[in-house]
Amino acid sequence: MPLNKDLTKEIVTVTSRAAIACYKFLGKNDKKSADKAATDSMRNEINKLRINGEVVIGEGELDEAPMLYIGEKLGSGGELNLDIAVDPLEGTNFVAKNLPGALSVIAIAEKGNLFNAPETYMDKLAVSNTVPKDATDLDFSLEKNIKNIADSLNKDLKDITACLLNRPRHKKIIDTLGEMKVKMKLISDGDVSGALMVTNKKFDVDIFLGIGGGPEGVLAASAIDTMGCKFQGRFIFENERDKDRAKRMGIKDLNKKYELEEIIKGDSIFCATGITNGDLVSGIKVKDKKYITETLVTHKSSDLSEIVVREDIIKT
Ligand code: FBP
Repeated sequence: MPLNKDLTKEIVTVTSRAAIACYKFLGKNDKKSADKAATDSMRNEINKLRINGEVVIGEGELDEAPMLYIGEKLGSGGELNLDIAVDPLEGTNFVAKNLPGALSVIAIAEKGNLFNAPETYMDKLAVSNTVPKDATDLDFSLEKNIKNIADSLNKDLKDITACLLNRPRHKKIIDTLGEMKVKMKLISDGDVSGALMVTNKKFDVDIFLGIGGGPEGVLAASAIDTMGCKFQGRFIFENERDKDRAKRMGIKDLNKKYELEEIIKGDSIFCATGITNGDLVSGIKVKDKKYITETLVTHKSSDLSEIVVREDIIKT
């Protein structure tokens, strides 16, 4: 059943208020307090909604997170059963250091339709919808993916842009892209936004790739699904604890490559509110005691993808 479009407004309120709640920690070099403020606000606001929600992606498991833990029930009840994925503060470093790119993010789908991702790394691939879906694959070599993109777009390799996290673990990829003369967009953090760079020509990114957080992958996938782009992910389990946890979550094949339709099914709503200015949305502005926020909203069944500006008067 499609999710009512009116629900998008309510979710925009939730991410906007979480963004505003952590704004007071901007540039205070205190990641934990910023994250806690956003998390507390998000939980409080979701609990006001007339829904039966369950957190499938959150701040961790019950033993590590008192709020928004995986399995936590949210909402004030009613007929609407939802899976909820949250990242109240995506880019804790950005807020702590007062840098661009911090977001507050939620994705929702009907119960059973959003993947319950373990808190591990994920190898990800996201590609613009201007490239045929079968031209790229996580199992292809980097060279083959890039060449196929260049061929299908009729571009030179030097005019292809690849976005990825700037991490030592990506040295080989970065070296290869350099040898191929591909343009890189090397981001310091925030790979929800990084993956979404493929969704609009204005960002001039053809492919997003590399290893980042699994939960962030699922969140990005829900917006990518609405925007008709490609996404694939494969979890990376670094130790026995992670493997055990994944098995407890029902993952049998630890090497499985997940297609977009296995990560998110049916209708969905995705909201990402800017805390600091970023590529996707502008950050919070304060004017006459009002907080002005920008939120990227997608709603699959109404084919909606737009930026919503909202004003709020909140004492933080
Ligand atoms: P936080 O907001 O939790 O700090 O995550 C930021 C982030 O850059 C994510 O966007 C990304 O998926 C992950 O960290 C990458 O992890 P790592 O810093 O360990 O490479």
